[in-house]
Amino acid sequence: MADGFAHFDLGAMSKADGYKLLASVIMPRPIAWVVSRDPEGINAAPFSFFNILSADPPLVAIGFSAAADREGKDTLTNIRAQGEFVVNLVPEELAQAMNITATNAPRGTDETKLAGLELTKCEVVDVPRIVGSPVGLECKLFQVIETGGTGTIVLGRIVYAHVRESAFANLAKLYVDPAQLRLIGRMHGAGGYCTTRDTFTIDRLSWPLEGKD
Ligand SMILES: Cc1cc2nc3c(=O)[nH]c(=O)nc-3n(C[C@H](O)[C@H](O)[C@H](O)COP(=O)(O)O)c2cc1C
Repeated sequence: MADGFAHFDLGAMSKADGYKLLASVIMPRPIAWVVSRDPEGINAAPFSFFNILSADPPLVAIGFSAAADREGKDTLTNIRAQGEFVVNLVPEELAQAMNITATNAPRGTDETKLAGLELTKCEVVDVPRIVGSPVGLECKLFQVIETGGTGTIVLGRIVYAHVRESAFANLAKLYVDPAQLRLIGRMHGAGGYCTTRDTFTIDRLSWPLEGKD
């Protein structure tokens, strides 16, 4: 069609191409660096099919794709079994460490050790959080959504939050300075990322819009 757009019927294209296209245009995506517990110890892996979907109750969603070499991602298996996990957000300085934890290490491998990460105990869940992450969200499994495809969606209820004090511009008012968090986001292609330093603000408007009558 000569309208300046390329058009795609998701039902007619291969799943791989659909993934490639959508993951390249739905961005930037925050990254949930999920720590979970398996029978042998600790597991960590990043997931960018992730976001907060509700504040009341406080829910996050994580989308798991099928694992080519195993029955499912270890993180998903662990969350199903224990019902608890921690979402850590990824600061620029831990981008390489995050990438190390994304390798498809055999089940039972503690990726946090591979990446040299320091962990600390959580308050409510029996899973540790990553000390170097400025935000750690303790989560309990809320619901597993079987999509009917090869993916699985996990909804987690945030029960406790840890936010590095120096990230607040005003702690009493809960004003966070994103420049202090230095979080990264997932962009296009196999290895695209962004920082969150280039921001701008827009004041919210109320109705009626001034000067638009
Ligand atoms: C930045 C980044 C984002 C990722 N996002 C996802 C995702 O949203 N869903 C998914 O299934 N895998 C995702 N992966 C791949 C998993 O991290 C990878 O399969 C990992 O080995 C899973 O580990 P686990 O088996 O210990 O759970 C992502 C990888 C990277 C580097």
